[in-house]
Amino acid sequence: MADQNTAIDALLAEYRVFAPESKFTEQANISDPDIYARARKDPESFWAQCASELHWVRKWDKTLEWNPPFAKWFVGGKINACYNCVDRHVMAGKGDKPAILWEGEPGDAVTLTYSQLLEQVERFANAMRKLGIVKGDRVAIYMPMIPELAIALLACARIGAVHSVIFGGFSADSLRERINDCGAKLLITADGGWRRGQVIPLKAAADEAISNTPSIQSVVCVRRIGDMAPISMHEGRDVWWHDLMRESSESCVPEPMDSEDPLFILYTSGSTGKPKGIYHTTGGYLTGVYITSKWVFDLKDEDIYWCTADIGWVTGHSYIVYGPLANGATCVMYEGSPDTPTKDRFWKIIEKWKVTVFYTAPTAIRTFMRWGESLPAGCNLDSLRLLGSVGEPINPEAWIWYHKYIGKERCPVVDTWWQTETGHIMIAPLPGITPTKPGAATRPLPGIDAAVVNDNGEEVPLGSGGYLVIKSPWPGMLRTLWGDDNRYRQVYWSRFPNLYFTGDGARVDNDGYFWLLGRVDDVMLVAGHNLSAMEMESVLVEHDAVAEAAVIGRHDSIKGQAPVAFVTVCEGVRATPELAEELKAYVGKKLGAICKPEEVLFSAELPKTRSGKIMRRLLRDIAEGRMLGDTTTLADPTVVATLKKRYTDGEG
Ligand code: PRX
Repeated sequence: MADQNTAIDALLAEYRVFAPESKFTEQANISDPDIYARARKDPESFWAQCASELHWVRKWDKTLEWNPPFAKWFVGGKINACYNCVDRHVMAGKGDKPAILWEGEPGDAVTLTYSQLLEQVERFANAMRKLGIVKGDRVAIYMPMIPELAIALLACARIGAVHSVIFGGFSADSLRERINDCGAKLLITADGGWRRGQVIPLKAAADEAISNTPSIQSVVCVRRIGDMAPISMHEGRDVWWHDLMRESSESCVPEPMDSEDPLFILYTSGSTGKPKGIYHTTGGYLTGVYITSKWVFDLKDEDIYWCTADIGWVTGHSYIVYGPLANGATCVMYEGSPDTPTKDRFWKIIEKWKVTVFYTAPTAIRTFMRWGESLPAGCNLDSLRLLGSVGEPINPEAWIWYHKYIGKERCPVVDTWWQTETGHIMIAPLPGITPTKPGAATRPLPGIDAAVVNDNGEEVPLGSGGYLVIKSPWPGMLRTLWGDDNRYRQVYWSRFPNLYFTGDGARVDNDGYFWLLGRVDDVMLVAGHNLSAMEMESVLVEHDAVAEAAVIGRHDSIKGQAPVAFVTVCEGVRATPELAEELKAYVGKKLGAICKPEEVLFSAELPKTRSGKIMRRLLRDIAEGRMLGDTTTLADPTVVATLKKRYTDGEG
């Protein structure tokens, strides 16, 4: 805690404040600060007013039904998310407006207008119906960042199928586990996707995953790569996307969904091994992502908006697909990596499409900083008018760099705090109103009741730190964990009675601004991705050579954190550098490349408390080269001293 406090004090010493420019405020969607007070006075009416900006087949009877910790929003209302994201804009005469400007990594491009998007979505929705998918069925999606991915999500929403997207960087085992947990009937995948000039063989991984998934009846495969990714199609089970689309009719009536019918399940890492199936429903989620896109990104009809996330993560669900499309925006979507073919790829995309609103992650910003400002300087970024950040705390240097070299000191920077569980942005500036401070997510949005509390759940005074909690329900909140109400209660609602526990540490400064300090549990944030230490440990101990393992997130100047594994080998096994490499590869294979430990360190024993708990805090101290903290509760203090010596001497 001492180290943490020093870091916090350094953060709070940040004195720079950037007031919104009047030119921005004059045109902003939200320019009246009274919005906060209005929301506070009567949150339910406030949210009802936000929801009424969407198209409802039937208006709700009751705005909120709150039986803690279970919430229902817009009860009795009927709505279709796909209709709101697509049809509504075509009906309003915007059919010829581009909805998606897609760019593949090799340089190919596709523009889909709202009318074209509608046609494709209707066709694919009908195709799924032909495959026997009905309202309530789960559909697993394991795809690269291609237009068909967005089409697949919207088509599911159209017919009331519940999508569960599994990020394409996850392994076959991870895919299988998630498919089996949600009982998906259909899997949508592709022959592969491009990443750094290489083919990611998705269909091959999908074949491996579904060797043992009894619920899967069919697989739809998009041909993205063609001859360079030869795949096998399983007779009677696998169908090509293009064959289905050719055969299917183009008119599909959207299913009127109950406001509380599920929209999607998205798995995220927990502090125990098993991933959590975050369960989101329709009316509240759509209201939340729609209104926050409008407020925080200040979306206007003429904006060209680009969020660089992958749709495999919640950021892509909420701020590539549902939020911006519900606003009728034009969205850029990019398949590949920022350094292919050259390190200025992102800036070239901004220049080419004249992107106005850009949303990315601190890990990307830190990488760009390292690559140098001459790369963005070589491209015309004059179209930009607002910059966003998400995924982990943004350090003030990165914020300032982003503001200066990308935003040319003209664009407001919105740091947005939220989670898969919250569905939409919760803490962020309103760019026309809120003065920003580099490194702070600023204030909870109107209608969001967030606080920082101490160990006893009492709100801390201004200027102090503690745990970030949410005190009242909000429209986009997760409703439960798929099939596990008890775990939902236990993970989010048991730490503090009647408060939603975020798992994040935070501090409020004297102006009431929130400074996020990272996770307080054993979840790591690696390049903005939520990874579970426990999950990696479970995989390591499955390996024949491993007796015991502890994984920690070591501070990393680019990725935020990098996983480091401390491993005890079994009797008779030699701890060699080759074994370390094998273990890294093993975790990568089992969980996906993003989970691969950066380093494996062997140890005769792991430091434990007398009650047998592994003291990860000490391992983190060792891995980050700090003076060791308090070791008095250790069963055997010599274990740590030996480990530290080996680590610093590089004998690991
Ligand atoms: O620790 C917080 C961090 O990311 C966690 C949520 O991760 P995930 O569910 O994968 O969603 C990521 C995208 C919303 C949070 O508990 N986090 C996210 N955004 C920020 C952040 N930490 C600090 N500042 C942020 N802006």
